[in-house]
Amino acid sequence: MSAKATLLKNASIVDGTGAPAWTGDLLLAGDTIIALALPGEIDQRLLQEHGNPQAIDCTGLVAAPGFIDVHTHDDAAALDKPDMLPKLSQGVTTVVVGNCGISLAPVVTDAPAAPLSLLGARQFRHATMAAYAQAVNAAQPGVNVAALLGHTALRMRHMSDLSQPANAGEREAMAAAMQEAMDAGALGLSSGVFYAEAYAADMEELVAVATVAARNGGVYATHIRDELAGILPALQEAAQTAKQSGLPLVLSHHKCAGPANWGRTQETLPLIEKMAKEQDISLDVYPYTAGSTVLREDLVDGIIDVLITGSQPHPEMVGRYIADIAREWSVSQQDACRRLMPGGACYFQMREDDVERVITHPLSMIGSDGLPHDERPHPRLWGAFPRVLACYWREKGLLRLEQAIHKMSGLSAMRFRLQGRGELKAGYAADVVLFDPKSVRDAATFEAPVQFSEGIEKVWVNGVLSYTAEGRATGDRAGRFLRRG
Ligand code: ZN
Ligand code: CU
Repeated sequence: MSAKATLLKNASIVDGTGAPAWTGDLLLAGDTIIALALPGEIDQRLLQEHGNPQAIDCTGLVAAPGFIDVHTHDDAAALDKPDMLPKLSQGVTTVVVGNCGISLAPVVTDAPAAPLSLLGARQFRHATMAAYAQAVNAAQPGVNVAALLGHTALRMRHMSDLSQPANAGEREAMAAAMQEAMDAGALGLSSGVFYAEAYAADMEELVAVATVAARNGGVYATHIRDELAGILPALQEAAQTAKQSGLPLVLSHHKCAGPANWGRTQETLPLIEKMAKEQDISLDVYPYTAGSTVLREDLVDGIIDVLITGSQPHPEMVGRYIADIAREWSVSQQDACRRLMPGGACYFQMREDDVERVITHPLSMIGSDGLPHDERPHPRLWGAFPRVLACYWREKGLLRLEQAIHKMSGLSAMRFRLQGRGELKAGYAADVVLFDPKSVRDAATFEAPVQFSEGIEKVWVNGVLSYTAEGRATGDRAGRFLRRG
């Protein structure tokens, strides 16, 4: 597939830096943005040099950097569902995989235990990050893939007893695997000490691995130990780990979960701001009041709604609420949960004012946290990015358009060290989304979660037109494994 030169004319250009929109033309050729200029002012010779490309009239449309989904679990999807339509159709051109401590590399198994099972069971065959990177390039997914190495995956590969902190030998083995991953271009380390399989990890263990990521210019993204009552000490622990290791910190899917915790972003955000004065801290967030993960009894409190997204023993219950299932079975909700396990669920554990505070916070960027292997996924998989535009920019007016785009592109590339991406700028990669600001919106809902978003007109990945609103995937997949820049 060849990337033809393309001229976008009269677009409203939102460049990803947060700078005000302006109307202009944009020339893409090969995999690169060649030039931006006021309407009609791109040098004629330059156009000739690139074979006088056909122009697309973009009047009334916004051209923005392709969105960067900084929080995904697309590790395996990039290999076995390489069209990556859930993401491409939102205008996403790059996904960061390996979040929450969960990555394919370096685990080799046919029967991954939770939480690794969130990635499905078929692709655990990459003993190194280099092997995973090669597999991504061989699959040539529809979007670019950049990867974190998961600490829980490291534990599963290198430790015999997950209920203990790593011993000296295990720490060494994990640090060596971290070095291999950084050499292969990984962005850094992720952890999910929230999950039982990593809960026993102590500071010494985390720092031993994180220090290796730090030495190589990596970042540290973490699903903190507690997003409920114990959130403040959990945030402090994450900051402490990053500080001791010398790493920039990304707090994953920041939220205050559970009714007893609602409203507490008024405490967490000031704490984060205070800590961010002394070290590099940012957040990612998805635009919904429900989270989603594996089925866990401790997350079923009998108060919040819990929607089943998958159940191995009871697939017939997928799409139903646990309260109804418990009533039907005449058991408690916790008992119902146990019977439905292993499986997944959406937990309506947040309140809208908290979500709004985090989304509008200057340190936050957008990450979907979508789960591509769920039978009936949380709608964030197909809708997170257009939803930020429709709901938080256009309807509620809580963000300026330029700010919203910045949180989906420029800021994300900066925080995750993705050089030459995330902005519309000459010399940068030609990852571009063209959308209709009047109609762009998510269509995926909890009832019908697999839905194309509206208003995403065209998406180019590395200069290749990969998605159009009329034809959906063009069939030309141009994603590649992105090394830390
Ligand atoms: Zn997580
Ligand atoms: Cu996650």
